Amino acid sequence: MSKDTLTITDNRTGKQYEIPIENEAIMAKDLRQIKVAEDDFGLMSYDPAFMNTASCKSRVTFIDGDRGILRYRGYPIEQLAEQSNYLEVAYLILHGELPTAAELRDWTWHITHHTFIHENIKKFIDGFHYDAHPMGMLVSAVGALSTFYTDAKDIFNAELRRKQIFRLIAKMPTLAAFAYRHSIGMPYNYPDNDLSYTGNFLNMMSKMTEVQYKPNHTLERALDVLFILHADHEQNCSTNAMRSIGSSHVDPYSAVAGAAAALYGPLHGGANEAVLRMLAEIGSKDHVPAYINRVKGGEVRLMGFGHRVYKNYDPRAKIIKQVAHEVFEVTGKNPVIDIALELERIALEDDYFVSRKLYPNVDFYSGIIYQAMGFPVDMFPVLFAIPRTSGWLAQWEEMLLDSEQKIARPRQIYLGYDERDYESMEQRQDKESKTAKASD
Ligand code: CMC
Repeated sequence: MSKDTLTITDNRTGKQYEIPIENEAIMAKDLRQIKVAEDDFGLMSYDPAFMNTASCKSRVTFIDGDRGILRYRGYPIEQLAEQSNYLEVAYLILHGELPTAAELRDWTWHITHHTFIHENIKKFIDGFHYDAHPMGMLVSAVGALSTFYTDAKDIFNAELRRKQIFRLIAKMPTLAAFAYRHSIGMPYNYPDNDLSYTGNFLNMMSKMTEVQYKPNHTLERALDVLFILHADHEQNCSTNAMRSIGSSHVDPYSAVAGAAAALYGPLHGGANEAVLRMLAEIGSKDHVPAYINRVKGGEVRLMGFGHRVYKNYDPRAKIIKQVAHEVFEVTGKNPVIDIALELERIALEDDYFVSRKLYPNVDFYSGIIYQAMGFPVDMFPVLFAIPRTSGWLAQWEEMLLDSEQKIARPRQIYLGYDERDYESMEQRQDKESKTAKASD
């Protein structure tokens, strides 16, 4: 008879332990009973970078990295990208089900009517230097929102949580667009409630003297699809930050600021920016083989390639590649696409990449579209943070309501000094001069 347990023999003591297996996992805490002596701390598992540790149970997003599958609440990403829109997907991610027509109307109304930010936030953004990175401004401005909404501290009040969710999803595009307008020295454009979520974002980014901004439908839809693709991605670095910071029961604005900071890095959401800088550095198709050799020599990384979970083509990259062609019909082709396609072609034939299962990820093509649409390169991580806010909030709420969760607090393996006595400055100087003499 098979049993859902794991038997461990501790060869130090010869003792055997039987540990339950649930959901294909053992509880790391169950290892603590494995001891050599009664006063031992007990066995721990060591897992830097969480390579094989589940930190939560989640019902939001499913990824099968070997088969290149991504689903939100069970719905395949391909179907959502084709048939849904970002606000509907945000509702789905947060509520677990697709909305009815009335629910979607209500949800869209609330998001649309929370897009304005306090005028003092404008002054806050004004304080940044002219060449401040917009992601730095976004991280700071969203954190600053916590000082405007003191009710946000009441995180176990469902109604107030809902209010902060409206505010955050609604205000992120406004903060992002204001940060951009500040960086180009242009006046801020206020939200236009007659436009869609992405149409309004384009309005706040681009409107000049026209009375009402009319977004190009293809670009508005392309941005919407990109937002759908970026909405959630289970326990990635920034989501883990959101959950970890949120586990201290801080308000969601502070937690989102921390999550956005995690997203900023070039190994995560900053990769789309890094891809474009890499393509510019390569310069032309002819230089691709030489660049691939530098990657293989360990000198540089091929940005936009590889993923901790996907060991197959990232399904989001496949969809983005299609969207690129639709966008190019409006904007004209972004010439760097030819360099990207050549990089992909060579990499997918090369044993270095094949053996390591390195495929294009979401960031490989998204920046090329954003650039064709006229967004500057340093806005790319910001364009990732806007839609990921719904995912962060869904994961944050799931964590808060999960009775198994507590403040996130990993253990460590301490390899430092054992206890030693404090040395006075004279003793230290004495020691230093002795060492210097010895090495003469
Ligand atoms: N270029 C060249 N070699 C790579 C790359 C790459 N982009 N990615 C991984 N490798 C190699 C790596 O050197 C290692 O080789 P070896 O076994 O010989 O030491 C092997 O592949 C495994 O790499 P790893 O660093 O152990 O893998 P990881 O799971 O820790 O890292 C990653 C995942 C996404 C950080 C990494 O693939 C990477 O740095 N990619 C480039 C940055 C990027 O595109 N990030 C966006 C990720 S997707 C969206 C998001 O999260 O925001």
